[in-house]
Amino acid sequence: GAAELGPYRHYMQKEIFEQPRAIADTLEGVHGIVPELFGDGAYRVFKEIDSVLILACGTSYYSGCVAKYWLESIARIPTQVEIASEYRYRDSVPNPRALVVTISQSGETADTLAALRHAQGLGHRHTLTICNVATSAMVRECALAYVTRAGVEIGVASTKAFTTQLAGLFLLTLAIAQTQGRLTDEQEAEHLKAMRHLPVALQAVLALEPQVISWAEDFARMENALFLGRGLHYPIALEGALKLKEISYIHAEAYPAGELKHGPLALVTSSMPVVTVAPNDALLEKLKSNMQEVRARGGVLYVLADADTRIESSEGIHVIRMPEHYGALSPLLHVVPLQLLAYHTACARGTDVDKPRNLAKSVTVE
Ligand code: G6P
Repeated sequence: GAAELGPYRHYMQKEIFEQPRAIADTLEGVHGIVPELFGDGAYRVFKEIDSVLILACGTSYYSGCVAKYWLESIARIPTQVEIASEYRYRDSVPNPRALVVTISQSGETADTLAALRHAQGLGHRHTLTICNVATSAMVRECALAYVTRAGVEIGVASTKAFTTQLAGLFLLTLAIAQTQGRLTDEQEAEHLKAMRHLPVALQAVLALEPQVISWAEDFARMENALFLGRGLHYPIALEGALKLKEISYIHAEAYPAGELKHGPLALVTSSMPVVTVAPNDALLEKLKSNMQEVRARGGVLYVLADADTRIESSEGIHVIRMPEHYGALSPLLHVVPLQLLAYHTACARGTDVDKPRNLAKSVTVE
């Protein structure tokens, strides 16, 4: 009811603004990296595994895609991410030394549960879930679990569940890295410090809302949008496009920026806004040349620029500057303006934000 919503217009907006609290709660009680955060026996499992297989649907699948970058670069463990409904019907090659990780807000998504049972049927014994509902079937059926504390999520478009999943997956990365001897004490201390600072950093990003609202006024008049990202932020571009589709009904696609020239550049005109996510240091120069390719075709850029880049607003380039550069955890911050962009664009178009047409919060039948 209205009382629960407080100053917010919709549950989705309230849930976006709850993220600093949701992340703080999810990390509460984490004083150091120990495998037992994931349950009894996690040490032995993390010691034995030689790879990770992530299974999930929707937004939860995109958090898995971010985790792949972390698991491979920090824990140096080969990682595969697969859409649950594809995996369950595919003739895959089981590896009993893989850790099967399901990611689910509800813990009841039919395809993800079926994928888990399929993996178990193939002989996978090492199973772990990152899940927001402690009493769910997913938590009951997985050997290990990390329960995120986003709290009840009502808006169909997932927001705080996503960022808390990322927090859980980052902890998982550190715990595997540590067990496999790939994390020094200094690195552990640095990562923990960055994690603890997340609620404050998220608050600063939420303060960008007025700038995002002015972008949303432009987007509300569009029928298509393109999202570009590279590396860790490619899945964030995918998530930004998904949010916009789900609640504003604008057709949106995401591409890794380097693929622009292999197809989507043909679509770029002045009525195809191009959202560009998170240029990080290593790829910044390449991203700038991707941006020039867009400008040369009359495309209009909306750039979420990192704090330490020198990308400035100019003709056809709208820049929102992120408050601080955040290294490996940057995806948790960059997704927030994209959630707000989808939200305010949907509001401007007058759609039913919390209950978009044809979609359900939890898909418990196939
Ligand atoms: C539905 C919801 C999405 C969610 C997906 C997976 O499609 O509308 O927001 O990401 O299911 O749900 P889960 O509960 O497994 O994370």
